[in-house]
Amino acid sequence: MPNLPHLLALGRDVYLPVYRQREVILERGQGARVWDSEGREYIDLSAGIAVCGLGHNDPDLVAALTEQAGKLWHTSNVFYSEPPLRLAEELVAASRFAKRVFLCNSGAEANEAAIKLVRKWATSQGRAPDRRVIVTFHGSFHGRTLAAVTATAQPKYQEGYEPLPGGFRYVDFNDVVALEIAMAAGDVAAVMLEPVQGEGGVMPAAPGFLRAVRELCDHHGALLVLDEIQSGMGRTGTLFAHWQDAVVPDVVTLAKALGGGFPVGAMLVGDRAAEAMQFGAHGTTFGGNPLAAAVARVALRKLSSPQIVNNVARQAAALRAGLDAIGGELGLFAQVRGRGLMLGAVLAPAYAGRAGEILDLAAAQGLLLLQAGPDVLRFVPALNISDEELAEGLRRLQRALVALPR
Ligand SMILES: Cc1ncc(COP(=O)(O)O)c(C=O)c1O
Repeated sequence: MPNLPHLLALGRDVYLPVYRQREVILERGQGARVWDSEGREYIDLSAGIAVCGLGHNDPDLVAALTEQAGKLWHTSNVFYSEPPLRLAEELVAASRFAKRVFLCNSGAEANEAAIKLVRKWATSQGRAPDRRVIVTFHGSFHGRTLAAVTATAQPKYQEGYEPLPGGFRYVDFNDVVALEIAMAAGDVAAVMLEPVQGEGGVMPAAPGFLRAVRELCDHHGALLVLDEIQSGMGRTGTLFAHWQDAVVPDVVTLAKALGGGFPVGAMLVGDRAAEAMQFGAHGTTFGGNPLAAAVARVALRKLSSPQIVNNVARQAAALRAGLDAIGGELGLFAQVRGRGLMLGAVLAPAYAGRAGEILDLAAAQGLLLLQAGPDVLRFVPALNISDEELAEGLRRLQRALVALPR
């Protein structure tokens, strides 16, 4: 069938080559399975990079989208429509802290909004521009806009894009003393972090770290901004990962699983900074469009349900046990870390740098997998993945790893 080589060649020719896609054309999905244009079936432990929290082709999401598609697609934010109003109301209630919501289209855009909100808030506090510093952490990932990539304290994402916006300061993750030092001058307006670093290697905040950050923010009059774009929406076992750390943030950003595969992002803002941005201070044409909001409302309801919470606990235990067993047998993993269904298998030093190769072998075995840097295999499956789908995924992973040349 000539279609596959033709489409692959098209991808090489017409896309800006900023990704290195695997050589398949994915065509349809059901639950945690997808099929390519050649009819090959895959177990999907990537979920579109932690997006398809309810798997592929969830009937309730499809129904919400198609029902709204027959009514109204877009109004822009100069008019109200009901789905985004209801979504914002439901996010406020679900978050247990937020007073206001800004709806947007992606994670980077949610973080961009948060960065701008911090600066506006600091301005409203009478702080001079050089006293509006935002602290972020080495290994973080906050997105690809210029401000979000500056917040992302990893040189590989920043190189070549200089000059970067000013007013960011980087600290080692999980290092309270380093954070104390970074905040000592009193010029920090906010600390921004992921409760579990995703792209940076699936690295969870150490027990007590978020509380220490909250205390330092309170001490220095800074905002606590949590990027829950990857860790949120039930992925780590609670609707928001920070619930497990018993902290109340000032700002939370969401995207990815919020729309279950339909693009949508959100910035949730608590009391302290809820009035910082007034008329004209920010905006987006597509943000909170009725299609996205209709889908996200259903995703939020389902991802908050006890069924999902219970399944995450059950499958997280099974995935961890499976990875421990495979790692033990093959001697490939130095460590399995993460929370809930956001797990990383860190390759042993002898296999460092070979995650990409393993992903190719996995695809050849019918398994869609992600990496988080060159040394970590990342597992972020659908939160409603079944026992059978996960077990089959683990079997295929084992076959892929056995095929890895030693
Ligand atoms: C924690 C975190 N923040 C922000 C982003 C950026 O989101 P988007 O790609 O939707 O702009 C990502 C994407 O991987 C992420 O994992």
